[in-house]
Amino acid sequence: MKKRVLSGIRATGRLHLGNYLGAIKGMLALQDDPTYETIYMVADLHAVTTPYKVEELRVNRREVIIDYLAAGLDPEKSILFQQADVSEHAELAFYFSSVMTIARMQHLPTFKEKVKQYPDAATMALLNYPILMSADILVYKAGLVPVGIDQEPHLEISREIARKMNQEYGMDFPEPQRFKTPGEYVPSLTGEGKMSKSVEGSFITLVDDLATIKAKLSKAPTDSGKGDIAQATGGVKALLSFVELFQGADRRKAYEAAYKNEGIRYGDLKHDLAEAIYKELQPIQEKRKAFESDPSRVDQIIAEGSKRARVIAAQTVAEVKEKMGLA
Ligand code: TYM
Repeated sequence: MKKRVLSGIRATGRLHLGNYLGAIKGMLALQDDPTYETIYMVADLHAVTTPYKVEELRVNRREVIIDYLAAGLDPEKSILFQQADVSEHAELAFYFSSVMTIARMQHLPTFKEKVKQYPDAATMALLNYPILMSADILVYKAGLVPVGIDQEPHLEISREIARKMNQEYGMDFPEPQRFKTPGEYVPSLTGEGKMSKSVEGSFITLVDDLATIKAKLSKAPTDSGKGDIAQATGGVKALLSFVELFQGADRRKAYEAAYKNEGIRYGDLKHDLAEAIYKELQPIQEKRKAFESDPSRVDQIIAEGSKRARVIAAQTVAEVKEKMGLA
């Protein structure tokens, strides 16, 4: 049997370069490897774990599918669907919650961060976020998960749950591992922390045009351009990471050498970098237009994807119910 792969992105807005380099690039690589069966969803249930607007979610859960298709995910090769259309995910999450303690879930760094961000909206859904994510993965018995490094604590929970379900109920869940990409940690354009949807000025989206990319890069903080590279500011380190990701390691090394010697001209660096980023995004944007103008094709892809996903998910849930004494 082919090894299964599962990944997802929350339906909380337009995808950015962090999502693209940390998750989608890995999703594409595994889709094109015939040894894997790839299953990719839009995490719309996860979008309700923090405050949201109903009409925006309705749009976003579809927009992420269109972003997937535009980026090259192919319904002929991968199962593409929306999480809420396969109710087995939520059902399995409930069974999984019976083997995890409240204390363990409250200790997760990702939970603590979100509680800080939304002190008045620390809901049960938020506490359950990693349990639902574990159900997403294990309902397909997937062993490999292409996601950014920030998701590692959640994968640790999925491994714990797999072990507990295997020990206590004799299930045969794999312990999911992360599939890493060179862009597993994409920095913020501000030079502080990672690129994130919730931080204005930190991101470039997949639909940004060349002028927008140039404008965003022009705001990235820099320094004098000369000196000891180890002392360079966060903004400069971020720019050099983008150079490596979009223009290659040699170009980065050349800039690092210039930093020690004649100095870097950031205007030129940002200009060339913007062109390189846009070169990668332009074909995605062209493809997006084609799917936007064919909504019934998108509907059909979504309907077929959830149908295929449900067949696998239902088998796992039936097995879990039987083993837990619920059937
Ligand atoms: P989300 O929407 O927060 O992030 C989606 C994916 O993008 C990656 N990512 C990054 N990678 C590198 N650098 C960054 N700056 C950056 N920002 C985001 C994330 O690591 C992630 O891979 N919990 C998941 C959604 C999810 C899921 C799942 C993933 C729900 N169920 C099951 C895999 C399997 C998330 O954080 O989405």
